[in-house]
Amino acid sequence: MTLMVTGGAGYVGSVCARHLLDAGHDVVVVDDLTTGHRDAVPEGARLEVGDVAEVADEVLSSGGIDGVVHCAARSLVGESTEQPAKYWHGNVVTTVALLDALRRHGVPRLVFSSSAATYGEPESSPIPEDAPTRPTNTYGATKLAVDLAIANYAAASGGAFAAVSLRYFNVAGAHGATSDATGVPALGERHTVETHLIPLVLQVALGQREEIAVYGDDWPTPDGTCVRDYIHIDDLAEAHLLALDLLARGEAAEVEGSGGHLVCNLGNGTGFSVREVIEACRRVTGHPIPARTAPRRAGDPGVLVASSTRARDLLGWKPAHTDLDGIVADAWAFARSRV
Ligand code: UFG
Repeated sequence: MTLMVTGGAGYVGSVCARHLLDAGHDVVVVDDLTTGHRDAVPEGARLEVGDVAEVADEVLSSGGIDGVVHCAARSLVGESTEQPAKYWHGNVVTTVALLDALRRHGVPRLVFSSSAATYGEPESSPIPEDAPTRPTNTYGATKLAVDLAIANYAAASGGAFAAVSLRYFNVAGAHGATSDATGVPALGERHTVETHLIPLVLQVALGQREEIAVYGDDWPTPDGTCVRDYIHIDDLAEAHLLALDLLARGEAAEVEGSGGHLVCNLGNGTGFSVREVIEACRRVTGHPIPARTAPRRAGDPGVLVASSTRARDLLGWKPAHTDLDGIVADAWAFARSRV
């Protein structure tokens, strides 16, 4: 297939594009490069730079695109609450324009980067897809709004358009440590504003920051720190290929009650606390990594762990990297390669 990957210069999009190319697909990356990096676009993909909705429309109008993987988004939870307009425009308005372009140009399938942030504070754990969606921040609200819009467009398409929303839990690690002959991962997290736990902890090990702040040790969890479900970027990317395969087989609409739009959580199903992540980073790096307890971060749920039963059953997805130390080791190899 020929596939368009929006946000293909970013962390998730670039690794998805790499996996698609490796599977023999042709890839067109559309990215405005505001947070992505030109040199992250994998070799073999064509890059089109500019406003995602506008450029996507141009690419789609020239024909030949069999499907879209839509990763382009604003994704900082804290910023989303301070600057909602940036998120409602960047995530929702842009995606609605993209959906209109897909309909106009008759593109039959879409895989969308949704988020566990759509659920908010869960009632129970692990979280299934039919759990209540009550996002606690603007980022999660915009991802949920897009999921709802996609469902409406699919339902109204009379079978001409189907989609899968993949709700990512905590994406981590790097691509290429084992596939690259150098042993150095080629693609990993390179955020200018870094807020994610694992890269921040690794910055301490690299001597780039003095200590890691642990946001709260009074959560109702075994060690009092927040629990998250860390999923390796390569497992995450693989799920996009499986979702495209399912859509290409026309199976989304066959799932009872889907209306042509499936929502699938992506996580390992195992939670690790902030302290356990720091311990894993200490083991992998051999650095003592000083940690300090800080106040809770606004909008953080205490525990977020996925039930990925649906992804396993419907997509045939099976994460290969469930070991936290292995995920951290890949992130560490990538972080060291960038200094
Ligand atoms: N944390 C710290 N100290 C830090 C950074 C993070 O203690 O310096 C804690 C957070 O409080 C949280 C955990 O580490 O409990 C993980 O935080 P991240 O920022 O790495 O990830 P989040 O769980 O907040 O959010 C991630 C993605 C979101 C997505 C969410 C859904 O960044 O886009 O997962 O699970 F919505």
